[in-house]
Amino acid sequence: FSLGLDLGTTGLRALLLDDEGQPAGSAERPCAVAHPHPGWSEQDPADWIAALEGAMAELADRFPEALARVRGIAVSGQMHGATLLDAGLAPIRPCILWNDTRSHAEAARLDALPGMREISGNIVFPGFTAPKLDWVRRHEPEAFDRIAKVLLPAGFLNLYLTGRAVADMSDSAGTSWFDTGRRDWSDALLEAGHMRRDQMPELVEGSAPAGRLRPELAARWGIAPGAVVAGGAGDNAAAACGTGALAEGQGFVSLGTSGVLLAARDGYRPEAGKALHTFCHAVPGRWYQMGVMLSATDSLNWLSRITGQGPAELTAALGETLRPPGRVRFLPYLSGERTPHNDAAIRAAFTGLGAETGRDDLVRAVLEGVAFGLRDSAEALRGAGAAPAQLLAIGGGARSRLWLRMIATVLGVPLEVPEGGELGAALGAARLGRVAATGAAPETVMTPPAIAAILAPDETLAPAFDEAYRQFRAAYPGLRAIQ
Ligand code: XUL
Repeated sequence: FSLGLDLGTTGLRALLLDDEGQPAGSAERPCAVAHPHPGWSEQDPADWIAALEGAMAELADRFPEALARVRGIAVSGQMHGATLLDAGLAPIRPCILWNDTRSHAEAARLDALPGMREISGNIVFPGFTAPKLDWVRRHEPEAFDRIAKVLLPAGFLNLYLTGRAVADMSDSAGTSWFDTGRRDWSDALLEAGHMRRDQMPELVEGSAPAGRLRPELAARWGIAPGAVVAGGAGDNAAAACGTGALAEGQGFVSLGTSGVLLAARDGYRPEAGKALHTFCHAVPGRWYQMGVMLSATDSLNWLSRITGQGPAELTAALGETLRPPGRVRFLPYLSGERTPHNDAAIRAAFTGLGAETGRDDLVRAVLEGVAFGLRDSAEALRGAGAAPAQLLAIGGGARSRLWLRMIATVLGVPLEVPEGGELGAALGAARLGRVAATGAAPETVMTPPAIAAILAPDETLAPAFDEAYRQFRAAYPGLRAIQ
């Protein structure tokens, strides 16, 4: 058996897998996010530990036999968060999370340094870790001087589980201190960020052993002594392990609050200029690239709040048949955009409204606008040489067949609808734990799910959607000019 722990932004999920890789029990606990100032986003690491202990107590109560058989454990974490530890490895201040934007000036300074994008493979986004530390250096110098280690959220749980400061490559690649091609800390980038190698955790691959569960925890949770803790992963790499996206040609489109188009890569081909994210995968010798749009289902949720009708109700009113794009365009930049614009200031817009425009036209424009935003990510991926022949469709928005048909047509790629069940980061983490404990080949454990349906692009409508996409692209510079 194995145990996956997914430390997300809103809570922690613990998932037990049996020896066939099937779910054998789970428990969740929420975690609050504090916003002490506009743009700030913080969590107290003590709350993560409380959530972990709460979830483990529930598992120990409800699934003691399964827990007793656990041999491998791994953590998946929300990426980029800066957890600063003193010489006694105690947190110095609350963790500054991935969606905290206070360090935008520091990010711009670091991003402009020669070699930064080439070595790290990415733009230095304000959410990444290095600019956060530069912010702490300027604004909280007493705290900065006390830093003995910086850990990402998953690394902090690794420390709690094993007593060792150790992190995996996929999560470490999101710091802007990391040489993503060489899978090692970069002395040049550390120096640029005023950090030292001894402040970084030791590195292991996500599917390799990082240590053993502390005996005290094993006894408390009813896990046999000696259980292996794997390196673990950042949540997107873990989700890729959960959906079986390991090798070139495999990938997924995730329709969550934000939208992600992810492709697994056999080699390192960064394309930072298009705001594509290029990170190490959680298994050796592989990478992944993804485009991120910030408001996917969030765009529909916004329209739902405005109209007072639920998102499912809004999409149901459009029926199941894909029609050619309407006249109204929606630019889905409610919270700014990452791929391809890297533009935190841009905001959304409708264009082409007429006196005849009705609610359903706006709904259709929103679904299309999200599809076009994903096409931007697909184009950026194509520019880096990644072109999966089909994509798994996951996330809450994937429940709408109409939306999936539209996205398949706009991307020109068939979408596979999984049969359901576990797919996400917790599953990926549990699979990493299993590989670390058994030495199994990752490909044999991280298999794709059973597919319920394949939605092919509508070839007759594709030219009309291509034309609408060109209009969508043409609108951004004008919108930018009036921000
Ligand atoms: C990835 C990113 C988010 C967080 C969310 O770059 O910022 O996906 O990992 O947990």
